Formats: sequence, C-alpha cells, structure tokens
Amino acid sequence: MAKVAAVITAERVVDADREARAALAKGADLVELRLDYLRDLGSEGLRRLANAVGPKAIATLRSRAQSGARDLPPPRRAEILAELCRLGFAYVDVELSTDAALVDALHKTASKHYQDILVSHHFSEPTEVSDVADALEACIGLGDVGKVAVPVRDLAQACALVDLARNVKLQSKRFVLIGMDGLGALTRALAEETGQEIQYAVWGRPSAPGQLPFGAAVRLRRKAPFVLGLVGHPLGHSVSPAIHEAALRAASLPGVYLSLDLQAAELPTLFDACPRLMVRGLNVTTPHKEVVAGLLDELDADAEALGAVNTVVLQEGWTRGHNTDVYGFRMALRSRGLRMGGRTALVVGAGGAAKAVVHVLLREGATVEVANRTPGRAQALADTFDEDVGVTELAGLAQRGPWDLLVNATPAGTKGVADALPVPDATVQRARFVFDLVYNPPETPLLRSARNARVPGTSGLEMLLHQAAKAFELWTGKAADLRAMERAAMEALR
Ligand SMILES: NC(=O)c1ccc[n+]([C@@H]2O[C@H](COP(=O)([O-])OP(=O)(O)OC[C@H]3O[C@@H](n4cnc5c(N)ncnc54)[C@H](OP(=O)(O)O)[C@@H]3O)[C@@H](O)[C@H]2O)c1
Repeated sequence: MAKVAAVITAERVVDADREARAALAKGADLVELRLDYLRDLGSEGLRRLANAVGPKAIATLRSRAQSGARDLPPPRRAEILAELCRLGFAYVDVELSTDAALVDALHKTASKHYQDILVSHHFSEPTEVSDVADALEACIGLGDVGKVAVPVRDLAQACALVDLARNVKLQSKRFVLIGMDGLGALTRALAEETGQEIQYAVWGRPSAPGQLPFGAAVRLRRKAPFVLGLVGHPLGHSVSPAIHEAALRAASLPGVYLSLDLQAAELPTLFDACPRLMVRGLNVTTPHKEVVAGLLDELDADAEALGAVNTVVLQEGWTRGHNTDVYGFRMALRSRGLRMGGRTALVVGAGGAAKAVVHVLLREGATVEVANRTPGRAQALADTFDEDVGVTELAGLAQRGPWDLLVNATPAGTKGVADALPVPDATVQRARFVFDLVYNPPETPLLRSARNARVPGTSGLEMLLHQAAKAFELWTGKAADLRAMERAAMEALR
C-alpha cells in the first residue's frame, strides 16, 4: 500500500511536532518532517520530534540543489544525518547527488535502529525517461527505498513515467517515482496502483508542485480509486479543482480531480491513455470544447446540438460527451425564478458559453438578440440555430431594448481582464435582470453597474456550481453536495 505521508513544512520544532501529531490523528500513515524548513534545527529539537512521531516519520533534510529550503555546510549535514539515523525515525532521506559517500556508514547505524534509508534524487528540468529510470535504479541500488522526482514536460512524458513505475513495481522494488507539476500529478494519483511506497501529500502549504491534497491522498487508498480532471489551456486559477475536491470529500469517494493543461494536439493521446490512467471523467474548457466533441464515441442531445462538450464520461473504454453548461444555466435561471417564455433577452458574446445560453433561452421560448465584439461571429452563432436569432452591433445597442434579460457571455469584467464593462451603463439600465456569466470577482463591474441602476442581477457562480454538480453526478452516480461546493468556490475566489 502507498503510505500517505503528510509533508510538514513548519518553521519551528514546536509547530512541526503539533502539526505532525495532528496529521497522524487525521489518518496519515506517515509524516515527512522537512527539517530544512526548521529555523531552530538542533539536537534537542530532533530528539523531541523523534520521541513524538519518529516511528511514523520520514526525516528529510533537503538541500537547495535538490529543491530544499536551505543548505548546511557539508560536515554539519553529515553530522545531522548520522544523528537522524540514531534517533529512530522510520525513514531517513538522503540525496544521491550529495550524500552517496555517506550511505554505507549511515546504513549500518540505521539498520541497528530498524530504520530505512531512502535515497532520493530531484531533477530540476524535464528529463528523458531513460535517464529518470537510471537515476531511480541508482537510488534503489544504494538505499532501502529509491525515490526520484522530475518535472513533467507534457502528457506523453507523464504517461511514460506511469509506465516506468508499473515496470519497477513488477520487479518488486521499493520506490517512489514522482512527476512534478500539474500533469505530473497523474503519477501521484496512481501511486497505489503503480506500487509506490509513499504518497507525499499537502499538509498546510504545498512543498512541491503537483502534490495532492491530503484528504484526496487518504481517500485514494480505498478500493477502486479513480481520476477526474479539467482539460484546457491555459487553465489559470480555475475553481473547478476546489469545487470537485469538496464534492468528492463530502461524498467520501476515492477520487481526485486534477488540472490537465494540454494543447489540442495532445487530446487524442489523452483519450487513448485514459483507461490506463484510471480517468473516469473530465471537464473540458476553453479552447478545447469543440475539438473534444469530435473525438468522442457519443454525444448527448445538448452537446450534439451545440457541437461542444464540457463534460466527458469514460466507462470501459467508451467516451460520452455532455454539455452541462446548458443544464447549469437553465438551473440558475430557475433558481432565480426567471421564466423566459415570451420574454426578450440580449446575449453579449458569441463563443461557446453564449451558444449554450442562446440554446437554453430559445428552448424556454424567449426572443433572443446577440451582440459581439466581432459582429461576424455573432452572425455565425445566430446561423447555427433553426429559430430566429437577432444580431445587433454593440455600437447600435443605444437604440435598442428594453430586454427582460441581459446576459454577459464574454470574459469582460473577469479579474485581470481589461475592458471591464461588456456594454455601456445605459444598456444595463434598459435590462430588467442582469446575468453575468463571470463569477470572479463575486461582484463584477457589470453587476455593480446593475446595482447602481437598481436592476437585479446574479453572477455566474450559481451556473458554475450547477454545471459542476451535474458533471459530478454523471461521473459518480451520486448527487453532489452543492453547499460544500459553494463554500469551496467562495474560499478559492477569496
Ligand atoms: N459561470 C459559468 O458556469 C460559465 C460557464 C462557461 C463560461 N463562462 C464564462 O463565460 C465567458 C465566455 O466563455 P466562452 O467559453 O464562451 O469563451 P470564448 O469561446 O473564448 O468566447 C469569448 C467571447 O467573448 C468575447 N470577448 C472576449 N474578450 C472580450 C472583451 N474583453 N470584451 C468584449 N468581448 C470579449 C469574444 O469576442 P470575439 O468574438 O470578438 O473574440 C467571444 O465572443 C468566460 O468568461 C467564461 O469564464 C462561465
């Protein structure tokens, strides 16, 4: 079983002691004590930590060259490593590049105290998998356990690392093989299945890119673990991982939700690899929603109508695409009591989200007008529907309206995006309700303009939560805890 090690990066011994006990009480199999983070590192402190949690701890003194927090003069480092090997920690981590000459001596001391020496190596750059395999072999050959961590360049390399781990498992060796960064998290998600000895997990603050949240790492130890993920480029600071982690936690399911930042050219590789990566479901975001629709075995009616997919369900090699933005927008309208039959709507934007919004509004029986920065795209969007959809120049909006509903389906107003208002204040004043698909910040410039004009409105958060809940239900067969998801979203947006 891959033992879950909560990584403790406290800066004082007293805090490290407290945090380590708390992590073990919460279900960690081990704690990794990152001694290089301690500012008051000394013999007394080491003894205190060994007495408190030693038999369940990995003692690690990571050097800067190996992604650690600080360096010590070599004689002092050797002295501390020797001390660690006498103190009764379950594992002592030593580095292939700096400590190889010490390992024999350390090993003799450690074995008297039933400790294991974990020999590790951290690459600072993405590296050929054959070189990673050689380094892992060297680490395994020198210690009781070998560990290699390497940044991951692309999906093909992440898959190759997973395959390498499976091969090493077949040789019954004790090892850890970690891909760093977002895609590298796949190696962590599959730690148990690929026979790795330790799963390092976030406790408090992450100490390495791609580390899994502690709760997810603990849940993945259970039967039938699975992987979910968000595919797009770039992903920025999406709140979807936080929302789905909250839903998985609330439902107590052995799954993890990863951010998979991929280029369009990598998508076929992803779908080929999904079964061996234990991927059960994916969300798809900009700019891949249309491309993905063309790669799947089957589409539901909404995805088919829009030619765009934001949710993929994978089951026994079969792929089915859905568009839960449609469901999310419809549910958000309902929860606001907005009945659109016989009403008028102006939709600003002509991308995938605008298309989903127009699709819902037409089905509800509304009369819809579209305006977009690039007018030709608005016309193209209107042309995809059998029903009449009006097209209006943004510059001509002053002469039009009023509308029962104004929807912003552009990123204008998103934190960090220029051109804050998608339409002038005067247009906002002629709407009876404003629906901004943007949800970050919680009060967008458009919603502020609506508030000033006493026009009621809502952000895209509710739609986001409903589309996420529907996706979760499709992947897991279980209802999502919307409140837990909302709390997680608010926390992530702070
Ligand atoms: N709340 C939710 O659940 C939810 C769901 C889906 C999407 N969204 C949000 O909806 C927005 C649109 O998403 P999408 O997938 O449709 O994106 P998209 O396909 O890239 O389309 C973006 C649209 O916005 C226009 N646009 C881009 N930047 C603009 C700016 N600064 N000012 C005015 N117009 C601008 C584009 O006009 P051009 O044609 O001229 O380029 C295009 O029509 C995003 O902010 C997304 O986060 C929210």
